Parts: sequence; structure tokens; C-alpha cells
Amino acid sequence: MTPKTATPKTAVVTGAARGIGLATAGLLAGMGWRVAMVDRDADVLELAAQGVPDAVPIVCDVSDEDSVASMAYRVTRDFGGLDALVNNAGVADFAPIAETTFARWRQVMATNLDGVFLVSQALTPELAIRRGAIVNIASISGLRASTLRVAYGTSKAAVVQLTLQQAVELGELGIRANCVAPGPVRTKLAMAVHSPEIIAAYHDAIPLNRYGSEQEIAEAICFLCSDKAGYITGQVLAADGGFQATGIGLPALRG
Ligand SMILES: NC(=O)c1ccc[n+]([C@@H]2O[C@H](COP(=O)([O-])OP(=O)(O)OC[C@H]3O[C@@H](n4cnc5c(N)ncnc54)[C@H](O)[C@@H]3O)[C@@H](O)[C@H]2O)c1
Repeated sequence: MTPKTATPKTAVVTGAARGIGLATAGLLAGMGWRVAMVDRDADVLELAAQGVPDAVPIVCDVSDEDSVASMAYRVTRDFGGLDALVNNAGVADFAPIAETTFARWRQVMATNLDGVFLVSQALTPELAIRRGAIVNIASISGLRASTLRVAYGTSKAAVVQLTLQQAVELGELGIRANCVAPGPVRTKLAMAVHSPEIIAAYHDAIPLNRYGSEQEIAEAICFLCSDKAGYITGQVLAADGGFQATGIGLPALRG
């Protein structure tokens, strides 16, 4: 008699064409999961998906309601239940308040906040089938304020609160919702806004004295997706080298 093969676990990872999302898709695939890799950058996504076993690339702009509806239709048709949704797609735009036009503000909110709301709402029925998990990617910028991040930081703080709302309401469906707040990682997103001065300042302020890697953030995400985190919901896990723990981080007080 041939042994019965278990149905693979399934996940949707947004912003999966590169950076933290790609590392997360790769790690989940390595755990034997089937991953729908969602991104709006079609060319980069196609190439990235070729390196992730059994992945299903889906081109989608998470800030666009119709695009999200088509993506959710495909996931529903092809997957039949979802064990995890990782809302990772994000954009960064640093500017002083006075220079943050409403258009720039909206652009950040559209992906970082609206995207998390739209994708989670569209895939909740699929998650409910398997009592799955939502992992939203916020940022240390959503936990601590800084200059230049009025839009980015506010969008990420809102993602933290959205996670709590989801945990409380969707818990009744057996769906867990948690948040990972990464510290700095040398991805395309970060390198576009981190000057050499910002990089040096981060090293000073972070107890572990370095940037994190995509893999390190992905490990935290995958833990929260997995059954190992079965009783954890409504939490924010800062994967940040200790940045969130530092209070009075004055360089003059350091050795
Ligand atoms: N890199 C860091 O230092 C850092 C720190 C804290 C939080 N984060 C967060 O981690 C997440 C991933 O960031 P990253 O550093 O890997 O960035 P990245 O720029 O390397 O990757 C982001 C991916 O999201 C995709 N994307 C952007 N807008 C989209 C949209 N509207 N629809 C679909 N796809 C979209 C991009 O095409 C890209 O592939 C983001 O939410 C970011 O805010 C990053």
C-alpha cells in the first residue's frame, strides 16, 4: 500500500519578489509549504518564483481592490484553504512633514495600510477553513517615532493596531493574527532611504550593533505562521537586534 501523503500547508506571501518576502517564501517552501508569491513587479516575481519549489506566482497590486479580488479568486480556486497569510508588501518614503504632500502620504498608506486591510479581508474565508494565521509586517518605525517618517511610521503603527483588531475579531474563527516589527535590513527598500549617516546611527543605537538579515526576519515570521505559535495571537514581535528595548540610547552613555 502506498503511504498517504499529507496535504501540504499553504501560504500567501505579499511583496514576495525580493527582500524579506522572498526569504519568507523560500523558508516556508523549505518547510514543505506551498506558497503563493504575490507581488506587483511581474518580471522580478517571475524570476524569483523559479527559485522557490512549488511556488505559485500571482501578480497583484495589494493597494488595488480589484487586483486583490482577482488574486483572492485564484488562491481560492487553486489552494482550497490557507494556513497562513503574510502581509509583507510595503513601500518607504522618508520626508519632513512639510514636504509630505497628500499624494506621497496616500501612496504610502495605500500599500502599507490599505493593502494589509484589503488582502486580509479578501482571504479571511480561506484562512477560516484551516484556522490559519495572519502575520503582518510592521516596523520599528511603527513602535518608535522618528523624523522623516510621518507617513511610513504612521502607516506601520496603524498596522500594529490593525493586527490587534484582527486578533480580537478573527479569533472567533480560529484565526491568529500577529505582527513582526523588523529592525533595519539591507534590502532595496531600506537602501533607498538609508544614507551612510543613517546606517552609522543605526549601528550606534542597536544593542547587537548591526543590521538584521532577511533570513533572520523570515525565521520570526515563519515561527508565527507555524503551529508552534498555536496559542499566540495579538502580539508584536520586534526582530530588531534590541532596538526597541533601548530607552535612553544616548551615544555618550555607551562604552
Ligand atoms: N528593510 C528594512 O529595513 C525594513 C525594516 C522594517 C520593516 N520593513 C518592512 O518589511 C517589508 C518588506 O520590505 P523589504 O525591505 O523586503 O522591501 P523590498 O523593497 O525589498 O520588497 C518589497 C516588495 O514589495 C513589493 N510591493 C511594494 N508595493 C506593492 C504593492 N502595492 N503590491 C504588491 N507588491 C508590492 C515590491 O515590488 C517588492 O518586491 C515592508 O513592509 C517593509 O516596510 C523593512
